[in-house]
Amino acid sequence: MDDLKGRVAVITGAASGIGLGMARTFAAHGAKLVLADVEAGPLEAARGELERTGAAVIAQQTDVSDRDAVLQLAARASDEFGKVHILCNNAGVSGPAMLPLWETRPSDWQWVLGVNLMGVVHGVQAFVPGMLEHGERGYVVNTASIMGLTAGGGSIYAVSKHAVVRLSEGLNQDLRLRRARIGVSVLCPGLVATRIVESARNRPQHLQPDAPMPNIEGLEARRAMALKFFAESGMPPETVGEIVLEGMRERTFYILTHPQHQGEIEQRFQAISTRSAPPVRAPER
Ligand SMILES: NC(=O)c1ccc[n+]([C@@H]2O[C@H](COP(=O)([O-])OP(=O)(O)OC[C@H]3O[C@@H](n4cnc5c(N)ncnc54)[C@H](O)[C@@H]3O)[C@@H](O)[C@H]2O)c1
Repeated sequence: MDDLKGRVAVITGAASGIGLGMARTFAAHGAKLVLADVEAGPLEAARGELERTGAAVIAQQTDVSDRDAVLQLAARASDEFGKVHILCNNAGVSGPAMLPLWETRPSDWQWVLGVNLMGVVHGVQAFVPGMLEHGERGYVVNTASIMGLTAGGGSIYAVSKHAVVRLSEGLNQDLRLRRARIGVSVLCPGLVATRIVESARNRPQHLQPDAPMPNIEGLEARRAMALKFFAESGMPPETVGEIVLEGMRERTFYILTHPQHQGEIEQRFQAISTRSAPPVRAPER
């Protein structure tokens, strides 16, 4: 995917963080944008900002865990812009951190897997058939995380991100076997300065925790520290947008933003090849 001018890019989770960073980058390179997000206010603000730069923009409030909503998004994109060329399945939530697996609650799994994994499945199923049909060059970028490539705590978030990596590998294989002109990348960022730590703002009413959070010492203080850490030490989302564009141009399958995590990836490979449990690391989130 070399030239974005006039290409149509769909981005989920586009109202904030990495999604907005990609939208700004793609708009600056002449793409038309279909922005989807569950949060109406920030989505509207993103639409306004990008339109003022001269970009053609559709914004549709969409919950990616809802298959019908994503199908409606695809129908609108096709009605208003004709063809979709780039699909960024990016919407994601961090879920409850710091809980050992045996203390996680059923609704935690439904929420996090519903957005982080099924959101990607819905995006692929709603858009890829149309992209195959028009036959022009296309690209799918699925946002996983560095946590999808490394070992560590058993958080639901990490499980969902490993699944997105494997889903992307499978999607790439299926498209290559068909000789489709659609590239695939899986974006695996490290720390980015976004609102991911505040994901609970988007947890729907019907999936509120089935049981109160167990008492974890210093939980509030750790949350506040995480917020500060993301804001102060995270990569700017616009930089991620540029890295994604470069990755699409180079057809980099695994797009990594933070080379300092290379050692952790290799530790996991090493553990697999020696049939050992991976090394135990301090929890990240
Ligand atoms: N920030 C990081 O350090 C980091 C690192 C690795 C991966 N990621 C991934 O990047 C992606 C983007 O997250 P971010 O860090 O920009 O966080 P963010 O909270 O700033 O942005 C996420 C966006 O997704 C939207 N969203 C949440 N639930 C949704 C739903 N059900 N349907 C549609 N939209 C929904 C939110 O409203 C928000 O606008 C996520 O998949 C996240 O897991 C982030």
